[in-house]
This record gives sequence, structure tokens and C-alpha cells, in this order.
Amino acid sequence: MNTTLITGIGELTTNVGSPADPIRGRGPDLRSDSADASADRDDVSGSGRAGDPCGTMRDAAVLVEGDRIAWVGSPHDAPDADEVVDAEGRAVIPGFVDSHSHLVFGGDRAAEFEARMAGQRYAAGGIRSTVAATRAATDDELRARLRGFLDEMLGQGTTTVEIKSGYGLSVADEERLVRLAAEVTPEVTFLGAHVVPAEYADDSEGYVDLVCGDMLDACAPYSRWIDVFCETGAFTVAQSRRILDAGIARGLRPRLHASQLGPGDGVRLAVELGAASVDHGTYLTDADVAALAASDTVLTLLPGVEFSTRQPYPDARRLIDAGVTVALACDTNPGSSFTSSMPFCVALAVRDMGMTPAEAVWSATAGGARALRRDDVGIIAPGARADLVLLKAPTRIHLAYRPGVPLVDRVWKDGIAVR
Ligand code: NIG
Ligand code: FE
Repeated sequence: MNTTLITGIGELTTNVGSPADPIRGRGPDLRSDSADASADRDDVSGSGRAGDPCGTMRDAAVLVEGDRIAWVGSPHDAPDADEVVDAEGRAVIPGFVDSHSHLVFGGDRAAEFEARMAGQRYAAGGIRSTVAATRAATDDELRARLRGFLDEMLGQGTTTVEIKSGYGLSVADEERLVRLAAEVTPEVTFLGAHVVPAEYADDSEGYVDLVCGDMLDACAPYSRWIDVFCETGAFTVAQSRRILDAGIARGLRPRLHASQLGPGDGVRLAVELGAASVDHGTYLTDADVAALAASDTVLTLLPGVEFSTRQPYPDARRLIDAGVTVALACDTNPGSSFTSSMPFCVALAVRDMGMTPAEAVWSATAGGARALRRDDVGIIAPGARADLVLLKAPTRIHLAYRPGVPLVDRVWKDGIAVR
């Protein structure tokens, strides 16, 4: 099998073995003995919390064998390899795990963004204009666009992407969107309950029946997850429960959009159903935070949405200090957040949400993996997928310190150098 040694790494983010690592002790044994004890491990994060969420190693090397990481340790003990890459003292992090995106759609809503910047509020109803443009697009048009976004993401260091449907909202169109998404990722989410389409405007319960019936039948074979936009203007808590229960009965796993536009009971529904993640959380009550902290449900923050809708940024510091597992994702979509840049989201999380750079990078990698219940990505350890990013910077702090600067130098996905 082909081997590549990446050596001379000045700062390696392993996400392994730190006291703050909520995945420690779960899943397969990817973590124990994963790092050579002779490498210099940095156990002080400077964040005020005990331990280093990133499991940082200084002066490190990583051996890639086929599509997996085979060894991590000091360059002095490194095994031979077919190919050697010298990182020249720069930083290496796991590929970003973007656990929330809506990449299959037609058209854009630049005019809506312009109006928002002039003072208009974001509302769920804008989704319907993208539904019309998506229905009008051919499979090939949607596929070309989708692949363009993935390429754009790869160039910014994202190696795992979750993709939702939700701009079809008919049986045939939702089936089309999950089918196209399944061509490029195993992390496909059926979001037929994104908003009630115009043709069901006076019969939202009739639309929920369709989502739980024929639409779910058509989409389940292509999907791993089921999601609902549980919010005023979209679906009620009772409707969300009915839809998620129907999906669970079909073998799909639940996740939820909640508390984006105002407080509600969606977060507690997600916790009650054991959802892998509840996403947005812009308006959280103390009871929501306590419920999340006592649960296995990840709270996925989407700072691109607050940026693009001028809503207040959620307080990630409050969440992390309370013991909530936080992920960061882009929520790439034409309405509320049309960025595909995880480095940009890391910068916003540090600048505006109270996260340390180490926490933000953890949340954008290992946190995303937790939100997708994956233990083979978001981590640099023997047995994990060889998804790695070499930065044009000596430390991951530069991702927030140099916002908007293209700092991704090289990217390996499944052991293949794709950049
Ligand atoms: O995650 N909140 C619902 N769905 C998307 C926005 C979709 C849109 O405006 O087109 C989101 O923000
Ligand atoms: Fe979303």
C-alpha cells in the first residue's frame, strides 16, 4: 500500500486524549496509544479550561497508509515511506467536518441579502423562492453546481460534508435532491420539512402527512438522517415530533433546526429524541442549555447565519462552560448563509462567540464528527481516515488571526493529495 510521511509539523492538532474531549472513551479505540509518547505534547491551552481540546503535538510527523492514518509521532522515530512531505514547521489540522449544509439548489438570493443589509429581517418564507428555482433546474445543472461547491469547500480544507435536501418539497423533487446528494457524500439528510410549499399553504397538516408518507418512502433509501426546520413560519414542535418519529421508524437518525429565529421547544425535543445534533441555537434559554449539557446531543453553531442575517451571535462561551458539546458548521445555503468557508466560521466563532482558537478548531473538526456520530474523521490518530490539512501558517490560531486569507496549503482526503 502506498505510504506518505508528513514530517516537520510544527503544530499538530490531533484532537486526541484531552480532558475536554467529549468523544474520549466512546467508539473504537482510535485514541489510546495513538501518539508517540516521546513527542512533545502541549497540555496547556491557555483557554482557562483544564487541558487542550486539540491534543496538540509540537514537532510531529504523520504516516498515511492508503486511505488511513497509520502512525503519529516524533520525526526522529518516523518510519520510512514512499513519499515524504516536509511541512517546514507549519501547522497541520484534521480536515474540517462541515456537518450542516444545503448544497443542492437553483438560483441565488443576492437581492434578498442586499435588502437585509439595508435593514430587512430574515424570514423562513424566502426558502420558497429557492424551491421554485430548484424545481426548474435539471439534474445536470444541480449536479454541476453541487460539485462546484464541494470543490470550493475542499480548497478551504473541508473533507467531510453533510448535505440536506429541502428545496424540492414535492415527492419527485425531494427524491431528486437526496439522490444527487448521495452521489457525493454518505451524510445525506432528508429535509422535506424545510417549509410548507405554496401549494399546501392552507393545509400544513396535509403536507406533514405527505412528508411522513410518500416523500419519506421515496427519500429514505438515499438518506442517513432526517431533519425538520422547527420554527415559527416553518413547522411546530408537534409536527416536528411526528416527522422525526416517522423517520426514526424508517431507520433514519434525527437532527433538528431549532431556536434560529426565536426561543422555542425544539432544542428540548431534539434532546428528548436523542438527536445527534440540534443546529442554530441562536436563542437558547437556560433550560435548553441545561438539557443539552446533560445529553449526548451536540449543539451545532452556524455563525455564517448570524453574519448574513445580522442576528445576534449565540454565546458559545456560555455553552462550553456549561458542558455542552459544540460543533461549528457553515450552513451553506442561498438564503441565510452563503459562505462555504470553515476558516471564516472559525474566525467568527473566535471574534464574536467567545471561543478560543483551539476550541473553534476542535468544534469545526472533532465537533462536526460528533454531530455526525462519526469516529473516523475529525481526528488525527492511527485508524482514522487520512483527511489532513497543511496550513500556510505556524499555528491554527492564524485561522482566526488572519481572517479572509487563504491559509490552506495542501489537503489530503482519504489519503489522496487533492490540493
Ligand atoms: O439553515 N433555517 C432553515 N434553513 C436554512 C435557510 C434556508 C434558506 O433561507 O434558504 C438555514 O438557515
Ligand atoms: Fe440549515
